[in-house]
This record gives sequence, C-alpha cells and structure tokens, in this order.
Amino acid sequence: MSSRTALVVTVACLSGGSGKTTAALNLATMLADHGKTLAIDFDPQGNLSQWMGWTDLSESATIAETILPGADRVHISEIIRLPLNEDRQERLWLAPSDYSLSRAMDAIVMEPGRELFLKRALRPILSDYDFLVIDSPPSKGLLTYNSILSADLLVVPTECTQKGVMGALSTLVLLKELEELDFHVPKFLGVLPTREQWVGNNRTKMSRAAVEALTDMMQGIPVFTPVRQSTVVQQTNSMGWSLAESGEELLAQPYREVIEAVLRAR
Ligand SMILES: Nc1ncnc2c1ncn2[C@@H]1O[C@H](COP(=O)(O)OP(=O)(O)OP(=O)(O)O)[C@@H](O)[C@H]1O
Ligand SMILES: [Mg+2]
Repeated sequence: MSSRTALVVTVACLSGGSGKTTAALNLATMLADHGKTLAIDFDPQGNLSQWMGWTDLSESATIAETILPGADRVHISEIIRLPLNEDRQERLWLAPSDYSLSRAMDAIVMEPGRELFLKRALRPILSDYDFLVIDSPPSKGLLTYNSILSADLLVVPTECTQKGVMGALSTLVLLKELEELDFHVPKFLGVLPTREQWVGNNRTKMSRAAVEALTDMMQGIPVFTPVRQSTVVQQTNSMGWSLAESGEELLAQPYREVIEAVLRAR
C-alpha cells in the first residue's frame, strides 16, 4: 500500500483573464518533474483541456460527472487521461472539463454539502498522485468554492492592473468568508502578478503601481516575481507546453518560484 497523499494546489482568482489557466498549465507541467501530477480542469470554458489537446469531449465523461449527486456520479478514475499533445512519460495526467460543468453546477445547487463535491470526488485518488493542480473559473460561485475547498494550497494569479488587484482582494475576502463559515480553507501560498508590461528596460507605471498595491494590500501574503507580458505565452499555451520546457527562462522563473514554495509546503 502506498503512503503517498497528493498535495492539492488550486489556482483561482475572482477576475477573468488573470492568467489562471496559464499558471495551472505551467505549474502542473513543472510539478510533473517532481512527482506524478494530475491537472484538473474545473472551468466550464475547458481551456486547460483544450491546451492539453482535448478539444472535443462531447462523447466523453468529464469532471462534471464526478460531482453529480447520487447514481449519476462517475468515479474520477474513469475520466483521467494523458495529455494528447505531449509524451511526458506518464508523469502528467489530465481530468478534463467542458461546458457540461455548468449543467453539473445547476444539478448540485440544492444538495447538502455542495461546496465539497469536488473534494469528495478527488479523495479516492489522492494516494495515486504526488500533486494535483486545479484550474478554476473566474467568477464567484459554487464551482470556485469547490475548487478552493479541495486545496491544501491556493495560488492567485493577478493581472498587473487595478482590476487585477481588485480580483486578488476579492479572492482574499472570499477565503475569509469561507473560513468564517467553518470550512477548512487552504493556505494562501501567494499572489502571482501576471502580464507585467515593460517598455524597453522599464516596467510601465501601471504595472509598477499594481504590484505595489498588491504588496501593500494583501496583508503579508507573499507576492511572487511578476510574469512579464509576452506573445510567447499564448503560443506555448496553445501547444500545451510550459514556458520552462520551451526554453523561456525569464518567463518561467516566476513559476519556478511558486514551485519552490509548493515543495517547501509539502
Ligand atoms: N504573461 C502573459 N503574456 C501574454 N499573454 C498572456 C500571459 N499570460 C496569459 N496570457 C494570455 O492571456 C489570456 C488569458 O490567460 P489565461 O487563459 O491563462 O487566464 P485565465 O485567468 O485562465 O482566464 P479565464 O478567467 O477566462 O479562465 C490567454 O490568451 C493567455 O494565453
Ligand atoms: Mg482560465
């Protein structure tokens, strides 16, 4: 019998386009170098699944079926698959998602314990992996509560804008609301500023102000080195590659910092 228990890292932020899925892809791919890793797409947009090569899931069971109540529920082991676009020697796996996750949310909304259905779905496979990395939708709601409450550690990617700062703050407030309700909340590992804009050798005023505001307002929560804005990120995402394996060291460095913090927390 294995004594392994996966460390569960959720990537979430109550703001759209903040770099959540990019972070989930990079963290899952890089953690796979340290142990068997499962990337869990918990966003009905299904971007992580698409980037990992699974573009049509209409005939397949997805993460949606694993959170359904009663007899309709599917065991999570039945939906786990390898990324289609990369051979990573079976160290990185995917639990995919698509739009059907929105319907699943409607189906659980009246059920007791509905905030913990993803946590329940993951329980039987914790001993099979070293790391689980969960991607979340951008909005405040039942799906986000489920992804946050499944985690040991929370990473919050935040765009280097005023909107991004507000998203990070809202996420912190949500964590406190859940804690006040006696839910067991994850450790807030840190904020990861993303899409930091540079002109020549200088950060733009807006990016600098956003990172300073984050450092001031996040109440001692670590703020990782910002990820710079670059068209390379879109290209590597669409191929399902991490920035590290694409040789983009400058862009990969902030994710390495997050990985080090995850490994220290193990
Ligand atoms: N550092 C970056 N530089 C340039 N583009 C980036 C960077 N990080 C992410 N992007 C791009 O920005 C878009 C949004 O990023 P991503 O999908 O990771 O955000 P998200 O928070 O998951 O979005 P959503 O809220 O819609 O789920 C994507 O097209 C992605 O490729
Ligand atoms: Mg996303």
